[in-house]
Parts: sequence; C-alpha cells; structure tokens
Amino acid sequence: MDILFYSFFFILSTWILISIVAWSYKTGISPMPTAPAVSKTIFSNMAFLHLMEGAIYELGAGWGTLAFPLARKYPAYNVIGCEVSFFPHLYCLVRHHFSHVRNLQFLRQNFFSLKLENAALVVCYLYPAAMQKLKIKLEKELKPGCHVISNTFAIPGWTPYDVWTTNDLYQTKIYVYRIPASISSKK
Ligand SMILES: C[S@@+](CC[C@H](N)C(=O)[O-])C[C@H]1O[C@@H](n2cnc3c(N)ncnc32)[C@H](O)[C@@H]1O
Repeated sequence: MDILFYSFFFILSTWILISIVAWSYKTGISPMPTAPAVSKTIFSNMAFLHLMEGAIYELGAGWGTLAFPLARKYPAYNVIGCEVSFFPHLYCLVRHHFSHVRNLQFLRQNFFSLKLENAALVVCYLYPAAMQKLKIKLEKELKPGCHVISNTFAIPGWTPYDVWTTNDLYQTKIYVYRIPASISSKK
C-alpha cells in the first residue's frame, strides 16, 4: 500500500514539475508570484487610482496572488485572471471554488488572444520581451483612461505617470500608466 502511495505521489509531483517547466519554457517566464512586499506596495498605492468603468484583467495570473486581492478590493468590477500554464490555472480554479469571491473569473488561454477593449485596469508581471509585444496589443485595444500596472518591467517607449518603489532588497519598481486620449501622445 505504502509503495503505491509513494509511487503515485512521485508520478504526480514529477508531472506537475515537468508541466510547470514546459509552460515556463513556452511562455518565457515561470509562474513566480509577486512578492508580498511588492503586493503591499501595489495595493496601498492603488487606493489613489480612479478607475473608469470596465473590467480588470490580470495578464498571466500565475497562482492568483494578485487576482484574488484585486477582486476583493474592487467588488464592483469583474476581475479576469488569464493564465496559460495548466497547474497554476488549476490551482486558481480550486482556490476560487472554495473562496467566496464571485466577481472573479479565470481563463486558461494565451492573453495575446484575449480582447481587452473593455478593460479599466490591466495588471501584469512579465518580462522585457513580452512587454515589447504586449505594448502593441495595448496600444491597439485599450481605451483612453484605462490604467496599466506593470510589476518590475516598464512598457518600452511609454512614459509612466507614476512609479511606485517597494522598500525591498531590489527596490522593486511598479510602473503605472494611464492611456491618454490620443495614442500619439503616449509615445
Ligand atoms: C511572473 S508570473 C506572475 C504571476 C502573477 N501575475 C503574480 O504577479 O503573482 C507570470 C505568469 O504569466 C504567465 N504567462 C506568460 N505569458 C503568458 C501568455 N502569453 N498567456 C497567458 N499567461 C502567460 C506565466 O505562465 C506565468 O504564470
């Protein structure tokens, strides 16, 4: 019986590990969660943002580290966490099932194929190459007044209207953008 249990546990852990590594390789980034100190900086400063109407998107939701608190902080908004990696997404679904957060939804898909036209806020923690590609999508789809918050990585060529600095070892920066009325004034 013991051997069966340990074999099952070993196969499951190996499968989880291989899946996470394979998806990290495919997307270019692991599902590393936003650190608690950075999250604290984001949520304490967010109180000063005036969000327009629309939905909140977290692009690459990982384990839901930001999606759950976002949904709790903004109960009047639909929060959509988009994650392509299987196990982090599964974890979010299970956690969501046992939570009482009803304005939250998780999608398992590539966020580059997600339409962001109704976004009031887009949150992400990605990596430089993804920011470069995402910039083109955001410029096409986001409406004036929409906010973008990016943990650690700036959007190349955009001027943030605020930068929040975390009091941690790396002085982690969080870049905050608001889409202007004219796309040309953003560059
Ligand atoms: C560094 S983690 C951040 C997780 C979470 N946003 C947080 O701050 O705790 C980046 C996540 O983005 C996901 N990701 C990267 N590219 C993606 C894509 N094109 N579509 C969906 N998810 C993606 C990765 O699988 C990973 O889980």
